[in-house]
Amino acid sequence: MDNKTLLKQAMEARKHAHCPYSRFPVGAALLCADGTVYTGVNVENAVNSLSICAERVALFNAISAGKHDFVKLAVVCKAAYCRPCGACRQVLHEHAPDLKIVMGSSQGTYKSTTISNLLPEAFSL
Ligand code: THU
Repeated sequence: MDNKTLLKQAMEARKHAHCPYSRFPVGAALLCADGTVYTGVNVENAVNSLSICAERVALFNAISAGKHDFVKLAVVCKAAYCRPCGACRQVLHEHAPDLKIVMGSSQGTYKSTTISNLLPEAFSL
């Protein structure tokens, strides 16, 4: 699946972000090796530390459906370009060290990289 198509799915998902505190909606779409796509949005809580990012929601959504092989994740927000936070980088790297990352803007432009580029020397046990 090409980057633009995956980004579109992230943009579509982003409409469902639950972000009453930050008013900063984020959408993510994760492409699995079998061609399926799982999306996620940020879901915030009044207790700030209980909020979760769109990238991890997409990953956990896919894992919950029994998926374990991941190819590419697109993430979109209003920033140019939407860069996954450090916590998401660590979690994504553990499940998919070869993952491609497409960092999009709400204008439809994007930059592509890899999780190992975003998190060199990642922690593992
Ligand atoms: N957020 C994400 O969903 N992904 C990131 O990689 C960084 C930040 C969310 C968390 C919070 O709901 C909002 O963006 C503002 O920080």
